[in-house]
Amino acid sequence: MEIDRQIAAFGEWQADALIFFTVENSPEPLPGFQRWMQTEAPWLTESPGLRDFQGKPQQATVLYAPHDQRIPRVVCVGLGALEKLDLEKVRTATATALRKCRDLRLSRPALPLLAFEGLPFEWPRALEEALIGGILGLYRFSALKTKDVDADTQLQSLVILSETDPGEEFPTAVRSAEAMASGVSLARDLVVAPGNRVTPTFIAEIAQGLSESYGCRMQLFNLNDALNMGMRAFAAVAQGSREPACIVVLEYCPTGMEDTPPIVFIGKGITFDTGGISIKPSNKLEAMKQDMAGAAAVLGAFEVVGKLGIKRRLIGVLPCTENMPDGKAYKPGDVIQSMSGLMVEVISTDAEGRMILCDAITYALQYKPAVIVDLATLTGACIVALGNEVAAVMGNREALVERLRGIGMEVGERLWPLPLWDSYFEYIKSDIADFKNVGDRSAGTIVGGIFLKQFVPDDVPWAHVDIAGTAWTEKDTGMAPKGATGFGVRLLVEIARRWDEPNI
Ligand code: BES
Ligand code: ZN
Ligand code: ZN
Repeated sequence: MEIDRQIAAFGEWQADALIFFTVENSPEPLPGFQRWMQTEAPWLTESPGLRDFQGKPQQATVLYAPHDQRIPRVVCVGLGALEKLDLEKVRTATATALRKCRDLRLSRPALPLLAFEGLPFEWPRALEEALIGGILGLYRFSALKTKDVDADTQLQSLVILSETDPGEEFPTAVRSAEAMASGVSLARDLVVAPGNRVTPTFIAEIAQGLSESYGCRMQLFNLNDALNMGMRAFAAVAQGSREPACIVVLEYCPTGMEDTPPIVFIGKGITFDTGGISIKPSNKLEAMKQDMAGAAAVLGAFEVVGKLGIKRRLIGVLPCTENMPDGKAYKPGDVIQSMSGLMVEVISTDAEGRMILCDAITYALQYKPAVIVDLATLTGACIVALGNEVAAVMGNREALVERLRGIGMEVGERLWPLPLWDSYFEYIKSDIADFKNVGDRSAGTIVGGIFLKQFVPDDVPWAHVDIAGTAWTEKDTGMAPKGATGFGVRLLVEIARRWDEPNI
C-alpha cells in the first residue's frame, strides 16, 4: 500500500472515504473531527449513525453522505475509553478502519492528521503507530496460492490529509512506519512459509539479499565449518538432517563504528522441529515450521535498521538447521562438548534450541558485545505460563530485563520477566557431564534460560526472550491475521535505536 499525502484546505480534500477515530463514552466527537464535520459535513452532525456509534475498540461504522458531497463517506473507528487509551489501540483501530476500506474496495481512502487531535499523543508518534498498525493489519500471505488469489482486493493507497504542511516530522514518521511494517512482514512471510521452502539455505539467501541491500558483511558457515570451529552442540542437532544446515552471521556497521562494541542479536533458526529421536507426537506437528521465528525476527530487524540507516553496529547470528530423527541424529544420553568447552548431557533431543543457541552465544563473544539478546521459540512451557499474547524475558541484568519489558509495552510486544536464580541450576545437574539439556517438567521456560546462562560470562549483559507463544496466533488479532505475528522485530529495532539512552 502506498502512503500519499495531500496538503490542502478542507474544501479541496479528495478521497472516497475519510477515517476518523472515536472515543467511547464521550459526548462530543474528538475536536479535529468536530471541526471538519461542522464546516464540511453538516449532514454528519445530524446523522443517527454517528450518534449510535459507541466507539468501542475494533468497532467501525461507515456513514454515507447524501449524494453530491465531495467526501462520499466517513469511516468511524473506535478507540475505546480515553482513560484506557494507548498506542496499541491506535494501531488496532487503524487496522480495523483500513480493513473496512479494503472490504469496501475503496481506491482512495484518507486519514486526516486532524483525526489525531485530542488524543494524548504527539501526532508524529500517533501517526507512525497508526500507519504501522494499518499496514500490518492488511498483511496477507498469498505467495503459495495459485487460485483464488485476492491480490486485486488489496488496498492500493492511503492518503494522509492536512491543511498545512506538517513539516519534516511527517516524512520521517511515514518512512519509519513503512520500514517497520516491511521488517515485520518479512518476518511473518518467513514464519508462515513452510519448512520445505524456508530451509537453512533459504534463510541464508534472504540474509544475503539484506546484506547486499544495506551493505552488511555476511559470513556463512556450513556444518563442516561449524565442526571446525568447535560448535559441536550445533552440529549434534544438524547432523541428523539431510537438509544442509548453516550459521549465518550478518554484520551491520555504519562507517566509523568499526571499533564500537556491537549489539548482538541471536535468533533460533530451526526450520522444522520434529523433536529428533525424542520425537514429538504428530498432532499439530506442522506448527513446528514456526521454530525459526527467532531467526526471522532478527532478519526483520536488520531490514528495518538497514532501511532507516540506524547508526548502530549490529551483529546477527542465526544458527539454522532442521531437527530430525535419523541414523546419524544425536541421541538421548549423548554427551556433547559445546564450543565453550562445557559438556552437555542430552536428555531430550527435543530441547534442540538451547543446543544451537549455546554455541551461537559462545561464537558471539569474540565480538566483545555491548549486549547479547537472543530470541527463540524455546519452550512449550512458555505458552503454559504466559499464553499467546506475552513473551517471557530473562537475563543476567535486572535493569536490562526491565528496559526490554518497557520497550515491549510501548511497541505492543509484551514481555514478562522470569527469574534466573542460581538455585535453578539444581534442575539440570548431571551425574556424568557439566549439566543436562533439560530438567523434569517444572519451570520449563526458566530451565531453558538457566541452561543458556551457563554460556554467558557475567560481564556480558544478556537477555533471552522466549517467543514460543507469541510467534504465532491462531486467531486474528486485528493487526495480524491468523498465522505468523512477526513478534520481536519491533523490540529488536527499538533496542538498537535506543541503546544510548540511560537505563538500558
Ligand atoms: N520448538 C519447541 C518449543 C515450541 C513449542 C515452540 C510450541 C513453539 C510452540 C522446542 O524445541 C521444544 O521442543 N521444547 C521442549 C523442551 C523440553 C524438551 C524441555 C518442549 O517445550 O516440550
Ligand atoms: Zn524441540
Ligand atoms: Zn524447537
